[in-house]
Amino acid sequence: MEFPATRLRRLRRNEALRDLVRETRMDPATFIYPLFLCPGEGIRREVSAMPGVFNLSLDQAAREAEKAAAAGIGGLLLFGLPPEKDPQGSGAWAEDGIVQQGLRALKGAAPGLLLVADVCLCEYTDHGHCGVVRKTGEAYEIENDASVALIAKTALSLAQAGADIVAPSDMMDGRVRAIRRELDRAGLEQTPILSYAAKFASSFYGPFREAAGSAPQFGDRRSYQMDGANPREAMREIEQDLREGADLILMKPAMPYLDVIRAARERFDVPLGAYQVSGEYSMLQAAFARGWLDRDRAILESLLAIYRAGAGFAVTYFAQEAARLLG
Ligand code: PBG
Repeated sequence: MEFPATRLRRLRRNEALRDLVRETRMDPATFIYPLFLCPGEGIRREVSAMPGVFNLSLDQAAREAEKAAAAGIGGLLLFGLPPEKDPQGSGAWAEDGIVQQGLRALKGAAPGLLLVADVCLCEYTDHGHCGVVRKTGEAYEIENDASVALIAKTALSLAQAGADIVAPSDMMDGRVRAIRRELDRAGLEQTPILSYAAKFASSFYGPFREAAGSAPQFGDRRSYQMDGANPREAMREIEQDLREGADLILMKPAMPYLDVIRAARERFDVPLGAYQVSGEYSMLQAAFARGWLDRDRAILESLLAIYRAGAGFAVTYFAQEAARLLG
């Protein structure tokens, strides 16, 4: 007698069959690869908690961009380490800011890649918060509206420097609407906004703060990033950003929040991506270094989970390696 299980097994007999019936596919064109741009020349400084991830001067970043384009990767997500920081984060919107320069340089290096500019102040403020801080004695507050004005100014400056997409990651209220208004007023109606709409306050951003030099000097980000216990609130955040004019939505982190990605996918018919953040990358790298996990399989499996949950694109530090594994 034949068991139904045998029928299922028939479809797994060889790679061609497995390929034919595969329900989730990953395409490097849907990978976005983060780069950390720094001043100088010939600089390739490895981030200690993120083996394989570097602070790159623009000449080095251009080489990285060429490799990414050759691997068929869809786009780059650009972060900047400015030469100097101040309380307002003025390096974020400076015309010769590090990412503004990077956008001009990378446009030529890899014309086919989408250049996505992360929009935030935390890499540029001396206190490391994503907005403007008002301190009264020991107490402090992130001033929402003052921050939004600077975030919008930053987005405009990055779009004018050549960003194909601007991606606000600050989580201030009302910033998507303010950015849309600034862009439209400047004739940049065609520049889409990728909003980090549901961004949870997470321990998994730890290694990024070393990579981007953006650790808060006091307090934490829990007043403006979301509580991990609140998936329904995440839906309201997404709805709000869509109403304000977001074109694409980004969720982060990815692996610890796959259920929220799934819920968002079912609820919103818009382009939706997820960010496999620094801590997700670092913990896998730590296990690889000890020989505890099979590197190639774990990289693809970690990304597959994100796509299976419903993401249509993924920001990942493994973009180059995963593209090679898929190719
Ligand atoms: C900036 C920003 C952060 C990340 C992306 N944009 C850091 C933070 O919110 O603390 C984290 C990305 C990662 O961990 O890889 N606001």
